[in-house]
Amino acid sequence: MGGGRMLVAHLSDPHFRTGPLAGEPAAGLHRALGRILALDPQPDCVVITGDLCEYGHPDAYPEMHTLISRFPLPIHLTTGNHDDRDALLKTFGGTAFLGATTATRYTVDYPEATIVVLDSKRSDSPAGHLGDEQLAWLDDTLDRRDMPAFVCLHHPPLPVGIPFLDGIRLDDGPALATVISRHRNVVRILAGHVHRVICAPFAGSMVAIAPSTYRQSELCMRTDRMIGYLAEPTGYLLHLLTGSDCVTHSAPVSHAGALLGGF
Ligand SMILES: [Fe+2]
Repeated sequence: MGGGRMLVAHLSDPHFRTGPLAGEPAAGLHRALGRILALDPQPDCVVITGDLCEYGHPDAYPEMHTLISRFPLPIHLTTGNHDDRDALLKTFGGTAFLGATTATRYTVDYPEATIVVLDSKRSDSPAGHLGDEQLAWLDDTLDRRDMPAFVCLHHPPLPVGIPFLDGIRLDDGPALATVISRHRNVVRILAGHVHRVICAPFAGSMVAIAPSTYRQSELCMRTDRMIGYLAEPTGYLLHLLTGSDCVTHSAPVSHAGALLGGF
């Protein structure tokens, strides 16, 4: 493994949309990216862990492309349960936003670490699924790399104590744990879906769930009602890799006074 340093900014759940309410989620993502651009030093890349668009509307992806294609740092996109895979691929397939592939699972190798993006969207449920074939691909991908890896997917692979969201988590989390536990180089598993900051150990690594750049979910631990969504501060996570050591910072974006980079 190398001994260098890498910074990965981790955003999630921008929930872009079309129509009269399109402004707030777009402004939320723009503000978060502006804050990241003002970091010194700037991150090596940005990962957005899914729910790029609220309704997976085909017109929402070109709108998002217009915004993020002006951003000067690399951005890697992950598919969430709200996303429409075909619409996402139509706009972003073949671009650097999907690692120059035409797939929603891909890898991007940096000098200090590799970014591995998985697609956990199920077509028949808001819960997530990876499947045997994708897990075998992940196993092989990690086998081939002797460097730290960030594994990115939308759905948390373990329950987080919010029953409504635990009911729609990754449904084959134990199978993912089996693969991750075979590799000692997975420094973080980056997820979204919950719209809250959560960290938990997982299969010898660590799951880090980023907040939404749009709106946060209520910390509702009851089983007898649906969660609500709140105007709690938006934010992002910053994963700082030094050699094979990784530290995660959580930073607010809204409700916070700090520099914004223009793009
Ligand atoms: Fe979401």
